[in-house]
Amino acid sequence: MKTKVICPGSFDPVTLGHIDIITRASKMFDQVVVGVLNNPAKNPSFTTEERMELLRKATAGLDNIEIVAFDGLLADYTRERGITAIVKGLRAVSDFEYEFQQALFNKKLNPALETIFLTSNSDFMYLSSSGVKQVASLGGDISSFVPECVHDEILNRLK
Ligand code: PNS
Repeated sequence: MKTKVICPGSFDPVTLGHIDIITRASKMFDQVVVGVLNNPAKNPSFTTEERMELLRKATAGLDNIEIVAFDGLLADYTRERGITAIVKGLRAVSDFEYEFQQALFNKKLNPALETIFLTSNSDFMYLSSSGVKQVASLGGDISSFVPECVHDEILNRLK
């Protein structure tokens, strides 16, 4: 049976940390769905379609990736799509408590669903979309935080 997993997130915007996790997942599993949370209540800086387009460009070199938007419960979406596991990156101990809670909620809501944590690449342990937004809005250099192919697009929207 083919393994289909999901890398879910806000991706507002995508960072090199996200791409590292997606790339590693794409080597481990047959199909990787990148699920962009469509939740306008979170007031994202980029629309759902913009976040998906940035991800499409940044993952263009990977052939087993599908970029989708989802709303509602991740547990329901994964059931509908026949996805067997969630793949998430863990940057630091501080991520663990929140991610562990999410994993347990998801397991209760969809007992067939596993959550797999990949250890963050040490180069990206500090990296977050909110940090990128703050640096860009204050005129800083974000070139070591986001994929080169979408750098200008992200910077122009944030500065
Ligand atoms: O990049 P983020 O913001 O940390 O991603 C969080 C995300 C999208 C993975 C999480 O908010 C999510 O799964 N939202 C959907 C609602 C849901 O199923 N929540 C889990 C049970 S509380």
